[in-house]
Amino acid sequence: MAPKTPEQSKTTMTDLVLPSETNPLNNLFGGELLARMDRAASIAARRHSRRIVVTASVNHVAFNRAVPLGSVVTVEAKVSRAFKTSMEVFLDVWIEDRESGVRTKANEAIYTFVAVDETGRPVDIPEITPESELEKARYDAALRRKQLSLVLAGKMKAHDATELKALFE
Ligand SMILES: CC(C)(COP(=O)(O)OP(=O)(O)OC[C@H]1O[C@@H](n2cnc3c(N)ncnc32)[C@H](O)[C@@H]1OP(=O)(O)O)[C@@H](O)C(=O)NCCC(=O)NCCS
Repeated sequence: MAPKTPEQSKTTMTDLVLPSETNPLNNLFGGELLARMDRAASIAARRHSRRIVVTASVNHVAFNRAVPLGSVVTVEAKVSRAFKTSMEVFLDVWIEDRESGVRTKANEAIYTFVAVDETGRPVDIPEITPESELEKARYDAALRRKQLSLVLAGKMKAHDATELKALFE
C-alpha cells in the first residue's frame, strides 16, 4: 500500500448551530459537537484507509470556548498518524465571525479509528507521511497518545509504554 499524506484525508464540515442543538445558556450542546467531530473524523479515516472504520476511542476533547447559537462552525479532521490497523484523527473546530468572516479556533479533539473488514476484524492500512511542521509535530506525539490510551483502556502494561515513559525521564 502506497503511503498517503494527512492532506489526502482532510475533511471539512461547516454547519450552523440551531436552537435544538443548544444548552440552557444558548451555546452548542457538547454531545452535538462530539457527534459532528465523530462524523468528520470517520470520513477522514475512511479517506485514508478506504475501508470500513469504527471509532475505537476518544482520546482528548477540549471545550475551550463556548459556541453560541447561530454560529457558523467548521470542523476540520485529518489523519495525523496511521499505525497498523488504527489511525489517530486530529480535529480542529473553528467559529466564523458573522461580520468579518474571521475564523477563531474554538475547540480541538483527538479520536482513534480502526479499519475493519466486513466481519469487523481489524485490517492493515497505508502508512502516512506528514508534510507541514504542524503535521510532523502531531505525528511525533501520536505514539505516546496511543500508548496512554491503551494503558488507560487496560490493553497495555504501563512498563511497556516506552514512548510515554520517556516523557518523565
Ligand atoms: C475497535 C475494535 C475494532 C478493536 O478491536 P480489538 O479486538 O481491540 O483489536 P486489536 O486489539 O487488534 O486492536 C486493533 C487496533 O486498535 C488499537 N486500539 C484498540 N483499542 C484502542 C484504544 N482504546 N485506544 C487506542 N487504540 C486502540 C490497537 O492498538 C490496534 O492498533 P494497531 O493495529 O494500529 O497497532 C473493537 O474494539 C470494536 O469493534 N469496538 C467497537 C467499535 C464501535 O462500535 N465504535 C462505535 C462506538 S458506538
